Formats: sequence, structure tokens, C-alpha cells
Amino acid sequence: MQPGDIIEILPVCLLDKNRALVSELRFLAKKLGLDFGWHYLLDLTWIISQLDKVENLSIMDVGAGVGMMQWYLAEHGAQVISVDRASRSDIPIRFRKRYCIKAKSKDQLLNSPLDTVIHNLQRLPGLFGKIKYLWRELLGVITFPEAPGQVVTYDREALRLDEIPSNSLDAVVAVSALEHNPPDKLQSVVIELMRTLKPGGKLLATLGAAPDQDWFHEPSKGWNYTEETLKRIFQLAPDTPSNYSQYDELFIQLKNCRELRYNLAKFYFASGDTGMPWGKWDPQYQIVGVCKVKRD
Ligand SMILES: C[S@@+](CC[C@H](N)C(=O)[O-])C[C@H]1O[C@@H](n2cnc3c(N)ncnc32)[C@H](O)[C@@H]1O
Repeated sequence: MQPGDIIEILPVCLLDKNRALVSELRFLAKKLGLDFGWHYLLDLTWIISQLDKVENLSIMDVGAGVGMMQWYLAEHGAQVISVDRASRSDIPIRFRKRYCIKAKSKDQLLNSPLDTVIHNLQRLPGLFGKIKYLWRELLGVITFPEAPGQVVTYDREALRLDEIPSNSLDAVVAVSALEHNPPDKLQSVVIELMRTLKPGGKLLATLGAAPDQDWFHEPSKGWNYTEETLKRIFQLAPDTPSNYSQYDELFIQLKNCRELRYNLAKFYFASGDTGMPWGKWDPQYQIVGVCKVKRD
């Protein structure tokens, strides 16, 4: 066993154990106008609680999208490298007011504020959505002070991160992102992420968990992995601590979790193919956190 490495299906008691952090995440999400996926509070809480320190550290958020983790890290003074294969050229203006956001290279410059507003307005359905967006932007631009950290966006496939030197990062985090890679490809991604870490640095990732067989969840377009698959992909020792033996009882607790159930984001109620069809609470899988520490 390698000290620090773990595989942990995320128990819902994490929320009670980290109440101050959960409140901070909810407050920040509200302020930024960000919605959470149904399990993201668990993912974020687990990853953040595994980081010993954030301030002044170089931390890569892989598969960051425009999600919460990078903003939380910048809020706490980290230098964030935000990687995603999807473009973030239209990050809302209110985020750019609060955080020092830079795009890595000329081919992926952030669009101008005016282009961004026009693009985002065209994308939003209905007059109400457009007014809400404009109101959020206006409020953000008027009221947001600047956060201490910085976010540099790399619109890249994480399989090849040539511009990021080996042994250069203090931590790598991935919130519900790596499961969007098929099992046969994911190991190469993990090897590339480990390359960028300093010795002693942690890779902290949350993914979908499967009890006895890897399977693909169509609504979320994500894989769910068994303990065996995770050990192979992350090259973890056979005796790495894991709570997969408690899969069934942890799943019952998740299904009975009122806090997650009664706080589903609005978008779940607007469609039948989001994984919680028309807002009906029906978790099909659990979330597992993997921590792998880089050795010398
Ligand atoms: C479900 S979203 C989660 C986004 C974000 N982490 C959050 O908390 O909101 C998954 C993201 O991971 C990105 N992603 C998955 N695999 C990736 C890879 N190999 N390289 C770059 N981005 C990846 C996808 O493009 C997508 O934006």
C-alpha cells in the first residue's frame, strides 16, 4: 500500500462533517449564478477536504468546464490551470470581473465582453432567461470584488498537455470529469496528469462507481467503474484502502439523502433525459473519490 492513496465511495455524511464548507460552496454558487449537478456538493466537498492547503499553490482543474472548483480555488488564492476540451471563450463577464482569468494561447483567446454577451444571449431560450442572464451579469459586474487567485484556461484534451512541464503542479483535481473517458483511454489520461504533478502532489478525482461491472450511464454520458478497474487505471496497489465493500449500504444512504434530493437544480425539472427525469429523484450510481499521491 502507498501512503495517502485511497478509493472512497463518497458517503453522504460528508455533508454534515463539512458543514461550513458546504455552506460556503452553496453561497458562492448562488453569488456566481452556478447550478450544481445532483451529486456535485459531495464531489467538491470530498476533493477540497483532501487538499491540505490551497493558497499560493498551482492546481490544475481537469475537465473544469465553467464549474465551481476552479472558482473556489481562486477564491482561496490558488493559481489555477483550468483544462477542458470544450471552449471557454464565452465565460460570463461577471466571472471575469471577480477572477483574474487568462487564456493560455492566442488560438483560444477569451471573446470580447460584447461578443460574449451577444453569444450568451443568443444561446439562452426565452425572454425570461435572457433577462435573468443580463441581470446576473450586471449585478456581478457592479458588486463583485476581485478574488486573490488566478485562473488560466487551456482549452485542451487532457491526454496531451505539452505546455505544462513535468513535476510542476502541487495538485490536480477533476470533478466528475474523468468518467467521460472510456476505460481503455482513461489510463493514458491519468499517466499524463501524474506527469505534471510534483513529487508528493495529489491527483484527486471523482468518478462514477459500479459494484461489479463497468457500465455507461447514457443520460450523463459517463462511465461507472469497479474498484478493480480503478486500481488498474490509476495504477494503485492491490491493498489500497477502499470502502467498495459497503457499496450497498452507502447507496441506500444516498437514495435517502434529503439534502441532495430536495435541492435538485432547476434544469433537472426541465427535461426527461438528465438522469433525474423531470426532477424525479432517482440516483442510478454512486460517486467514488480516488486519491493518488505522486512518488519521487
Ligand atoms: C460533467 S462536466 C464537469 C465539469 C466541471 N468539472 C464541473 O464541476 O462542473 C465534464 C467535463 O470534463 C471535460 N472532459 C472530460 N474528459 C476530458 C479530457 N480527457 N480532456 C479534457 N476535458 C475533458 C468535458 O469536456 C466536460 O466539460
